[in-house]
Amino acid sequence: MNKNLQAIILAAGASTRFNTEKTKLAEPICGQAMILFPTKLLKSFKLLTTVVVGYQKETIQKIIQQHHGDSIQFVVQEKQEGTGHALACTKNLWEKEHILVINGDAPLTTQETIKTLYETHINENAAISFVTACNPDPTSKAYGRVVKKNGGIEIIEAKDFNDDPAEHCCINAGIYLIKKDFLTDYIATLNDKNASKEFYITDLVKIASHNNKHVATVTAPFDTIRGINTLQELWAAEQIKRSDLIKYWMDNGVRFSLAQNVHIDLNVTIGKGSYIGCGIHLLGDTIIGKNCRIQEFSSLENAILGDNVNIHPHCIIKDALIESGSDVGPFAHLRNNVHLGPDTSIGNFVEIKNSTIDKQTKAKHLTYIGDATIGSNVNIGAGTITCNYDGINKHKTIIKDNAFIGSNNTLVAPVVIGENAFTAAGSTITADVPDNALAIARAHQTNKHEYAHKLRPQLDGKTKNTLKNNPEKEFSFVGARIINNDNPSDEI
Ligand code: UD1
Ligand code: CA
Repeated sequence: MNKNLQAIILAAGASTRFNTEKTKLAEPICGQAMILFPTKLLKSFKLLTTVVVGYQKETIQKIIQQHHGDSIQFVVQEKQEGTGHALACTKNLWEKEHILVINGDAPLTTQETIKTLYETHINENAAISFVTACNPDPTSKAYGRVVKKNGGIEIIEAKDFNDDPAEHCCINAGIYLIKKDFLTDYIATLNDKNASKEFYITDLVKIASHNNKHVATVTAPFDTIRGINTLQELWAAEQIKRSDLIKYWMDNGVRFSLAQNVHIDLNVTIGKGSYIGCGIHLLGDTIIGKNCRIQEFSSLENAILGDNVNIHPHCIIKDALIESGSDVGPFAHLRNNVHLGPDTSIGNFVEIKNSTIDKQTKAKHLTYIGDATIGSNVNIGAGTITCNYDGINKHKTIIKDNAFIGSNNTLVAPVVIGENAFTAAGSTITADVPDNALAIARAHQTNKHEYAHKLRPQLDGKTKNTLKNNPEKEFSFVGARIINNDNPSDEI
């Protein structure tokens, strides 16, 4: 097929109906820019491919080059004068016997459709062949209508169409296969005498028909050829793609509790026996192992999970590797290069950034771990914070195997907590702790016996006086100290 065929993608249009002031072709559908759907489709047939660009061409070129390198060539259509004009701009590059032309905005097109079109075109020796579909919405203002009359065939654009649309539900999909010789002879005969004052590629069908050249058509399901002109059409196409992906994973042994509420990107993979809860976003290159549980309202982007990983509800996980048997959340935030070893336990309101945590380590409550290397079987007490940032630089915290960090610790990095060491609850650790040591870094507590009897009358008097003057004045109680919030030095 690639021997006598080359492909052209029309992608220069201004995306006016999107109304976003951005090219629609860069919009992602299940995580992949719209323009990469046709480029990948054509590359799957190893076709020599040219993309016509114009509106926001740098954006489109960059996306294509990032994915395909220099294997796709570009032609610039400086002024967008219609799809026929876009095709004419590629004239100097026509070298194969047949030219496949497809719109850049039909991301659901299948290999099957291209194959059938090619076979029909060759078998029927047609000058031009194109794909049609039955539009289920007879009132639709989009799509050119395929009209057959007096032995001829033509495509009449919606804007130029005056008949009853309900009687002409056969529409043009925007995928054409054209003999190069026919194109060379007739491309110059296109004109812009129509409602849009544009040169339509679709007029080539009428021209072929009038000149007694054979025109062939093949039909495809409407859902596979949908063109995306509006944000509503983008939403509808993504729904279709997403539901295809979810069906695929269901067929491969993945349980979805509320499939209509889940978003999955194209490159995500999920192991058998896994469970995906409601409101889950699985993004980018996320890989989920076997028998994992991803519970409600969590988002995983470029996350790699081993087997039997349990993600509790409301977790945000990005760029993280979580090994088998680990337990994360609820309300955990893992980001920017996190590696959790096997059977780790990361609990409520724990944020971890750019850190490695070895097997069986636990950080179960209200903790920030940033730029840390933590060994195995470590216990991180509730409320522990690694102070990794001094306002200028980030510093590392190292906690070695079997260490026990007491609750509400502040670990001021750079700092090393030795193997098997303990830190006392409430400590601010500013110096390294040797292996097997206990570090206590907090003020000593003093108990003044019976002091409350002395304090109480003072407190009652002060409160009464203040309330009389200003009933809204607040007091906060800090241990045995009572501080007036308006004047913290006013201590009794
Ligand atoms: C086009 C067809 C219509 C068909 C529909 C299928 C024409 C005149 N009409 O209509 O019959 O039913 O697709 O979805 O072709 N483009 C350029 N340069 C231009 C104009 C457009 O490169 O000057 C590109 C666009 O970026 C787009 C593609 O061509 O990718 C189709 O253009 P669009 O304006 O979306 O055509 P439709 O109105 O959808
Ligand atoms: Ca379109």
